[in-house]
Amino acid sequence: MRTETRRWPECRPGRGPLRHTRPVNRPRVDALTELEREIDAPGDGLDRLRLVPTPFVPEVRLHLAEDAIVWWARMEASAGHTLPPPFWASAWAGGQALARHLLDHPELAAGRRVLDLAAGSGLVAIAAALAGATQVVANDVDPYAVAAVTVNARANRVRVQASHQDLLDDDGTQADLLVAGDVLYDRDLAGRVLPYLRRAADGGAQVLVGDPDRGHLPPDMLEVVASYPVPTTEPSVDSPVRRVQVLRPR
Ligand SMILES: C[S@@+](CC[C@H](N)C(=O)[O-])C[C@H]1O[C@@H](n2cnc3c(N)ncnc32)[C@H](O)[C@@H]1O
Repeated sequence: MRTETRRWPECRPGRGPLRHTRPVNRPRVDALTELEREIDAPGDGLDRLRLVPTPFVPEVRLHLAEDAIVWWARMEASAGHTLPPPFWASAWAGGQALARHLLDHPELAAGRRVLDLAAGSGLVAIAAALAGATQVVANDVDPYAVAAVTVNARANRVRVQASHQDLLDDDGTQADLLVAGDVLYDRDLAGRVLPYLRRAADGGAQVLVGDPDRGHLPPDMLEVVASYPVPTTEPSVDSPVRRVQVLRPR
């Protein structure tokens, strides 16, 4: 196993981006089959998935990696080629704050159509469904994230539709509420996400962003709605707690 050479892409302000080293075009069903197999026979090492309560949102249980980097290394070794970093296998601070916010303010999602952009594990989408949303779509370009959304929604007994298209060049969204947790970690991605959020807001959607200040938050576009001290479980983080803001377009 190549764990000593693995580096989790940095998510701290001023550090490099999280980039996929090679696009993965495998059908989603393969990723779902793989995750279901991993869940059925998890083993007992650091390279296993476990169904655990999310630290800041214990109402939601997620299939997370015991150690995402070790899991990633094993899956790449078995696939024989590079795979995207398994961001879906960790509970990110931005998503945790946003999910907490939706569960504590269920009126934001109840009776509404919700889109979780860059959903990862689907944590925020699941929180929206638990808060009473009528329709929830969780979107992510990583096929493993799409599979993770499926298994995590199942584990929490909620209905979430997983979608894998890249939406960021679209004109806007059909959703009433657009939520985006921890999606401003990379300058290039933020450069696409922020205009998309702006278009969605201009088109009438309510937009909420969860961000632990990874360095790409624009100074003027967003205003703070709430702030939470969130326990971090993601790799490559020095402090056990991060201050995370929930923001909306001005
Ligand atoms: C740091 S993770 C955050 C996941 C989740 N929102 C959370 O807070 O736990 C960022 C996610 O963005 C996804 N992503 C990157 N580019 C994207 C794009 N163009 N459209 C949708 N998702 C994207 C990645 O695959 C990854 O799952």
